[in-house]
Amino acid sequence: MEFKAVVESQGKSGADCAVVGIYENGDLGSGALAVDAEQGGALARLHAGGDFAAKLGDTLLLPPQGKGGLRLLLVGLGPRSGFGRKQYRKALQTAAQALGKTGTTHALVYLSLETVPDLEALYRARIIAEVFAVSAYRIPDLKTSPKPKPSALAKVTIVVDNVRDLKVATEGLAIGSAIGNGIALARDLGNLPPNVCTPTYLGKRAQTLAKQWPGVTTKLFDAAGIKTLKMGAFLAVTQGAEQPPRLIVCEYRGAKKNMAPVCLVGKGITFDSGGISLKDPAAMDEMKFDMSGAASVLGALRTVAELRLAINLVVIIAACENMPSGGAVKPADIVTTMSGQTVEILNTDAEGRLVLCDAITYSRRFKPATVIDVATLTGACIVALGSHFSGLMSNDDELAKELLAAGLRADDRAWSMPIGDEYVDQLKSNFADIANVGGRDGGACTAASFLWKFTKDLRWAHLDIAGTAWLGGSQKGSTGRPVPLLVDFLLQRAGAK
Ligand code: BES
Ligand code: MN
Ligand code: ZN
Repeated sequence: MEFKAVVESQGKSGADCAVVGIYENGDLGSGALAVDAEQGGALARLHAGGDFAAKLGDTLLLPPQGKGGLRLLLVGLGPRSGFGRKQYRKALQTAAQALGKTGTTHALVYLSLETVPDLEALYRARIIAEVFAVSAYRIPDLKTSPKPKPSALAKVTIVVDNVRDLKVATEGLAIGSAIGNGIALARDLGNLPPNVCTPTYLGKRAQTLAKQWPGVTTKLFDAAGIKTLKMGAFLAVTQGAEQPPRLIVCEYRGAKKNMAPVCLVGKGITFDSGGISLKDPAAMDEMKFDMSGAASVLGALRTVAELRLAINLVVIIAACENMPSGGAVKPADIVTTMSGQTVEILNTDAEGRLVLCDAITYSRRFKPATVIDVATLTGACIVALGSHFSGLMSNDDELAKELLAAGLRADDRAWSMPIGDEYVDQLKSNFADIANVGGRDGGACTAASFLWKFTKDLRWAHLDIAGTAWLGGSQKGSTGRPVPLLVDFLLQRAGAK
């Protein structure tokens, strides 16, 4: 999808549908006012006649009025007094959906002109591009029935007030579009079946990123390489699987060599059966999404590379399956992690923390400024936060604050949760330095506190995305979260808006 910004006086730019907002009290939005003036008050009459209530999420498509006129898509914005960033995004989502059902190929969007509290022109443009890009996303399904037609919409032009806004809006569109592309990559990887999206496949996709984007290099380690690195915990998780594991390391260089990188560490369990501590069959299929952390850090990398951000970024993914077999790791097995600490594996279904602790230890060789791990780590996090917020734990309050703020700006929110010695006490073992589970209570916090034991002297944060990475039920599918949060955080680091 192609995005462009124009100043209104530059004309209609060949579009075949104009998208304008109307507030519930009959107040025409900024774009609607301009269009209404051209059309002799048709919109005002329509609203006055009660034909368009303009509730948030309402849309109405009107045929071209007069000669040379455009189709019009009216979008309800709800009451002006309650119009904020959430409403702005919702209005755009419904507009994009409605447009996708028409034959419109080039939309002229006026919603960028609306005043939204705390949302500057750059962010208003960025959200438009992100929402339109995401709404064009289709699951890479394997249905043999004829595919529904993809949306005809190929071009979106947004209208801005003046030449100064033109520059920032153009920048915002590029950012939003790149975020949309990163989300699409993460969603594709999550949605693929686990017999396709294996650790080997993830490694190949990471290599493809390196081929496609300047500044990106990818290095893969197989089981032997992982063994050489002494990642005993990672190896224990993969030992029951037939599929070979991969440690995937991608480096993006966008800044001077001496600028310390941000390391993003992704949990890449391409299927989590639980291992010998086998899971219940109900919804076990959803454990194909257990590589969503890996997918999101690759998505963020893609976005950063597309935007050529002036940062250095390292993406580290521990990818393997968690399967039961005669050779699988057993409850009570003790392994030595790359850090040297020993772990008693009491439950083989608590495998995420095992692969992550070794991946985090590996990140030390990059002398990172910050390490953020992203993982579908615990069902307990879903119990605590539902599917609205990702859980955020950190050993650095300033970093936690930055990530919370990034989530807020990107509409991809996280919520702070505690870690500490109290939770580590739950992980006591009589036989090893630490056990891999600590009972039911505070499950998301004990899991994060386990990881914390591997982060001494690192500036580290953990995102538990078990509730946010995918939707279940009839909407089953990957969300691409937390790509928007991660990218926003990295944009701040790059000094962008
Ligand atoms: N991948 C799961 C966590 C999960 C479960 C995410 C359900 C989303 C939905 C993780 O590997 C796991 O199995 N965690 C266990 C930990 C327990 C054994 C301490 C869990 O949450 O039940
Ligand atoms: Mn598990
Ligand atoms: Zn898991």
